[in-house]
Amino acid sequence: MSSPLSVVILAAGFGTRMKSQITKVLHRAGGLSLVEHVVRTALTMAPPERVVAVVGHQAKRVGAVLAPYGVRTALQEVPRGTGHALQCARAAAPADGHLVVLYGDVPLLSEATLARLVMQHVSGRAAATVLTAVFDDPAAYGRIIRGADGGVEAIIEHKAATEAQRAIREINSGIYCFDALLLWRHIDAITTNNPAGEFYLTDMVEILRAHGHRVDGQIMADSSEMLGINTKVELADADRVFRARKTTQLMLDGVTIERPETVTIDLDVTIGADTIVEPNTRILGNTVIGQNARIGAGSVISNSIISDGVILQPYCVIDDSQIGEAAHVGPFARLRLKNRVGAHVHIGNFVELKNTAMGDGAKANHLAYLGDSTIGAKSNIGAGTITCNYDGKLKHATTIGADVFVGSNSTLVAPVTLEAGSYIAAGSVITQQVPAGALAIARGRQTNKEGWVEKKKGS
Ligand code: UD1
Ligand code: MG
Repeated sequence: MSSPLSVVILAAGFGTRMKSQITKVLHRAGGLSLVEHVVRTALTMAPPERVVAVVGHQAKRVGAVLAPYGVRTALQEVPRGTGHALQCARAAAPADGHLVVLYGDVPLLSEATLARLVMQHVSGRAAATVLTAVFDDPAAYGRIIRGADGGVEAIIEHKAATEAQRAIREINSGIYCFDALLLWRHIDAITTNNPAGEFYLTDMVEILRAHGHRVDGQIMADSSEMLGINTKVELADADRVFRARKTTQLMLDGVTIERPETVTIDLDVTIGADTIVEPNTRILGNTVIGQNARIGAGSVISNSIISDGVILQPYCVIDDSQIGEAAHVGPFARLRLKNRVGAHVHIGNFVELKNTAMGDGAKANHLAYLGDSTIGAKSNIGAGTITCNYDGKLKHATTIGADVFVGSNSTLVAPVTLEAGSYIAAGSVITQQVPAGALAIARGRQTNKEGWVEKKKGS
């Protein structure tokens, strides 16, 4: 059997250039924080108990984001360099097998690139294999010094490099695969004897070689994967890459996306085939959209379930709600929280729902607020209907049975029940239960004063 893999993610740095109160690895791209992307990649290689994230700045917050993944964390209280960060992982990381080092702020690295690195490392029987890239402008990256046999002899940090070394275009990505046993045996040999006074992980190359071990390098096929996020500009670049990967995958799976460069779809969203996503939509969180649906232009949907055949007209805002099959919603509808809308329901323009259930085939076509309510199947809620669900202190429920007709501009003062098949006259203020099949009229009677206008003129 091949040796087990483990992964250490260095994520203790602050990221001053983000100009933010929030630590760098918690900034989001593609709907996930940077460090979550890296953890998910790590989990394609190793089980959670063999993945360690080294956290430091805002360690608690980073730990909370990582908790659902079940990975381990190790604390680096003061950032004293990449070598020191890895030393901090020692107690939490496995001592056996191969160990891959990733950075918490390098989110685009693919599973395939890492699989290639590990494969070469294992087959080459090296003590360490460095993932490298070749750049026309090697900028401030560490330079790779190759030996006559093609192995890596040293990594020289830009600051410490001579002019001749700075001319080398092969650079260190900062991603490595180590033989764990050799790494832990020798890691304490790293010193702070360099211009920055930091513990450089890159020193491991020379340390391992001094003990007679071989270090290999593997050049990345696509060096854009090693993009490290240091500024909000680079964050936006990474976000764009994740969004494009997502829309491309959805389109290959049969979703129609109009002007995909304008839509924002989080990585965990699923959408069924033949659904049409119109321009400038945002589909976020754990949203699940079925087949043959239409998501109207400008709509924003978070953490919701949209069933097969649903038509969302443009500019709907939907949070934490479920919409049943073939329902029609919008334009300009707001489903605020915890709504359960049945099949074939119609919700029209300027209708707001909050914590409301609508039975199959119910309708609220124009201008209504329905909060904390249950509405039975096939009931019709007229234009301008308002549930008065809040008395200034507490929220109260409105219960409407099946086949109820609520006339326009009705005010339903909760708690109140309209039983099945009842009718509410337009303009009513309903404060008491309406029995099944009854008509409730609750408004001032109309009086007509004949000739009143003529009399007024004559006076
Ligand atoms: C490092 C490499 C350099 C390489 C470059 C690639 C060293 C000495 N140099 O340089 O050869 O070309 O990455 O990007 O390793 N971190 C901690 N704790 C620390 C220091 C860093 O967790 O004490 C984390 C950072 O949060 C970051 C990663 O390690 O995710 C890399 O640190 P950074 O300071 O960016 O290293 P570089 O100087 O860029
Ligand atoms: Mg860096």
